Amino acid sequence: MANPDPYLRQPCLTVHGIPMVNAFALNWERIDSFQSRPDDIMVVTFPKSGTTWVSEIVDMVLKGADPEKCKQDDILNRVPMMEFVAPGKMPAGTDQLEVMASPRIIKTHIPADILPKTFWENRCKMIYVGRNAKDVAVSYYHFDLMNKFQPHPGTWAQYLEEFMAGRVAYGSWYNHVKGYWERRKDHPILYLFYEDLKEVMDWGPPPEIAKVAQFLGQELSETALDTITRHTSFEAMRDNPTTNYSKVPSDLMDHSVSPFMRKGTTGDWKNHFTVAQNERFDQDYAQKMSGTDLRFRTQI
Ligand code: PPS
Repeated sequence: MANPDPYLRQPCLTVHGIPMVNAFALNWERIDSFQSRPDDIMVVTFPKSGTTWVSEIVDMVLKGADPEKCKQDDILNRVPMMEFVAPGKMPAGTDQLEVMASPRIIKTHIPADILPKTFWENRCKMIYVGRNAKDVAVSYYHFDLMNKFQPHPGTWAQYLEEFMAGRVAYGSWYNHVKGYWERRKDHPILYLFYEDLKEVMDWGPPPEIAKVAQFLGQELSETALDTITRHTSFEAMRDNPTTNYSKVPSDLMDHSVSPFMRKGTTGDWKNHFTVAQNERFDQDYAQKMSGTDLRFRTQI
C-alpha cells in the first residue's frame, strides 16, 4: 500500500551541506530564524547517543528530583526536539518551544556548524552526549528499521557503509562529536559520555548526574541523586510510558520491529560487526579521528 504521508521513508535532503531527515529539511528557514533565550538548556547529540536518557536526567534535576512531576507529561513535550516536524501528526518542535515557559530544555541533533547562531550568541548552556561510534551505528540501524521518518536502512552491511561515509541523517558522526568537542573550549558545553553514565549506573549515582546538576547551578542531596539514578535506569525508562516513545503513532514508529528502548548497553556492536567489518571500521576511524584528543570507549 502506498505511504499516505509523502515524507515517510524518503531519502534524506541536504541542509547547509548536511543530510537531513526528509520531513525536517522542508522549510528549514524555521530553524535558521529560531530565537533562543539566554536561559535555554540544550541537550545535543548525534542520534542514538543517549539523548532521551540525559533529557530525563536534566528534567529531573530541574524538577527537584520529583518523578511524579516528570511523569505528568511525555518527554516529547517536556524536552521538545527543535527540528522535529510531522505535518498533521504531531506538533512541530519550533511551535512547541515558542509557547514553552523558561527555562526550556531543547533537544537537537543539529551539528555545531549549522546550529542556529542565536544559541552561540546567547551563550546557551549545552549538554552534549557522545557515545562510541560502533554502538551508535548499531542503534541507529535498528532505529531506522522502525522509524519511518528515515529511509529504509537496507542490510546491516549496506547501512554500515553509509554510516562511515556520513550519508545518514545529520551526516558524519565523526564531524559531529569533534565539532562540539572543539566548541567546548569557548562555549559552556558539558561534554558527557554514554559509557561513563552506563558504567556506574548499577552501583549508585554516576558522577555525571551531579555534574549535570552543578552545570545547571542546582544543588541536590544524596537522596535526590539516588532518586534520579533509579528513575533513569534503562529498565525504569523502558517501562515508563512518558519516556519510552510508546505514544508515538505506530505508523511513524513501529516498536514491534524494534523498540525505541532497545538494549541500552555498551558493546552490542560485537553482536553485529563481522571481523572484517570491524577491521575496516577501525582503520577508517583512525583516519577520521586523527588529530583529536577525543576518546571513546567501545566496551566498559
Ligand atoms: S534519539 O532517537 O536519537 O533521540 O535516541 P537516543 O535517546 O539518543 O538514543 C537511544 C539509545 O539510548 C538508549 N537508552 C538508554 N540506555 C541506557 N540507559 C537508559 N536509561 C537509556 N535510555 C535510552 C536506547 O536503548 C537506545 O540505545 P540502543 O543501543 O538502541 O538500546
